[in-house]
Formats: sequence, C-alpha cells, structure tokens
Amino acid sequence: MSDFLNAYSIQTWLESCPQGYLVDTEYGHKAGEKEPALILENPMLREEAISTTVQLVVGERAALAASSGLINAAPDPASKRFLATQTLDEARHVEVFTQRLYDLGVKKNELEDTIERFASPHLVKFAEILLEKVDKGDFIAGVVGQNIVLEGLAFSVFEMMQMANVEANPRFAHVLSGTIADERRHVGFGENRIGSLIREHPEKKPEIEKMQKEMTYHMLATFADRFRNQGAAIEESRRIAQDAAKDSQAPGKSQVWHGTDLANADPSEMEAVLSDTVLKEFKTRLGRIGLEYQTPARP
Ligand SMILES: [Fe+2]
Ligand SMILES: [Fe+2]
Repeated sequence: MSDFLNAYSIQTWLESCPQGYLVDTEYGHKAGEKEPALILENPMLREEAISTTVQLVVGERAALAASSGLINAAPDPASKRFLATQTLDEARHVEVFTQRLYDLGVKKNELEDTIERFASPHLVKFAEILLEKVDKGDFIAGVVGQNIVLEGLAFSVFEMMQMANVEANPRFAHVLSGTIADERRHVGFGENRIGSLIREHPEKKPEIEKMQKEMTYHMLATFADRFRNQGAAIEESRRIAQDAAKDSQAPGKSQVWHGTDLANADPSEMEAVLSDTVLKEFKTRLGRIGLEYQTPARP
C-alpha cells in the first residue's frame, strides 16, 4: 500500500506533471506554436479538425465529471487524493482542447452550439452510461468505466492521432503528448486500485461487465461514424502533404502505428487498427483486475 500511496500522491503528481513534462508549455504546447495555415485556410480540413476536436472535448468533459464525482464515493483517502489530481488533469484536457477549437476559429459564443452540432450521438451515450454509475456513487463500476474503458479508449485514440500529427501538426502533437502522459497515470491507477476491490465484491461483476459491454458498443459505433465521415478530408490532407513533399527533399517520418501505415491506410483500415488496438487493451486490463471482456454486437 505504501508504494501505492507514493505513486499516486499529490507530491508525485506535482513533480512529474506540472513541474515535469508540462513545464514551459502553453495550453499543452510550446509557446508560439500555431495550427498549420493549411488547416486554417482549407474549409474542409478546418471543419474536419473542429469535428475531431469536439469529440475530444466531449470525452474530456465526461472524464472531468466522472473523476470529480468519484472523489466523494472513494472508500480511502489515497484514492480521493489521486482523483483530485485526476480532476485537475481532466479539467486541463477540457481546457486545451476547447482552446484548440477557438484557435481553429470557433467563436466563444458558438462553442456549445458547435459541440452539439458535431458531437457523435454514440459518444454522448457512451458518456451517459458511465455518468449514471458515478451519479449513483458506485465507486467500483465508476472506476472501471472511467479509468479502464473511457481512458483505455482515450489513450489509444490520442496515441494514434499523435503519431499521425508529429510532422503535419507539431503543435497538436505536443498537446496530445502531455495528455497521453496524464492518461497513462490514470489507467495505471484504475488497474492498481480496483483489482482488490473486485476480489472483495465478486457480486458486482455481472453489472460491471454489462456496463463495459454497452460502453464498448457505443465506442465502436462512434469509430464507425467518425471514419465513415472522414474519407474526403483524409484524401484532401494527403493530396496537400504529397504536394508539399514534392517541394522538399526531407524524407517523411514513418507513421506506422500497430503495423498500419497511417499516411497511406484507407479509413476502414484505420478504423480496424484503432478498434483492434483498443479492444486488445481492454481485454488485457480487464483480465488483470479479474473481469472478463464482454463482446458487444458489432454496430
Ligand atoms: Fe483526459
Ligand atoms: Fe484521464
């Protein structure tokens, strides 16, 4: 328990996060870094960037509501303190991705309308299933839903987007790197804290597995929606990248993520590698805490 206390203390959080990898950042990126003109000046790419970022804001708002809501439901002081640090992390994620919407040209008074217009209905439903457990003060289900399912999802999505943006958009890639480092800590907490609680409360398993199955269904449906709508924007950005490559001699960096080349894969291949990666992570992490992954219907 003392290692657990140390790893998830506020002191450790201060040293590794605000005084560590976030030092000298501004909304998660280096000062002065800008969104590429190619995105800002191309209506299709700009709308696509807004739409993608809206999903991130929706997910992070859910994580903020869940982590703050779980503080009072937590059975021990160490978990409460960790969730307090996580609450600030999630509030920061909401802030940096909202700031990206403003930087992409969304007006402050249009923020909520923009989110409502672009939010995937399945992602909204995914968040509602989690927040129902949190509102009931169900700590075990809440932590599995948040720190294993929601954050396992976020972790892989951010990693994939980070890889795809390293060259095309260093500013966004930097914002994502700091967020990935935070999510890694959150997922670790979920695994370390919840395994023993599930062993003490085996009667909770069926209800938690049902929640996981429903959340997974809406996650896969969100992926299907997103990749179906992204085809034209992906082609457009590749056309621009190829034109730019003709003018420069520098070799492009590889964008291979879990065996798929993100620079050349078609949307259905990208959807497949993302779903496979997230589901594999779910199975491993759920197995470690003594739960069996439940396969939903394929949306
Ligand atoms: Fe987050
Ligand atoms: Fe998180």
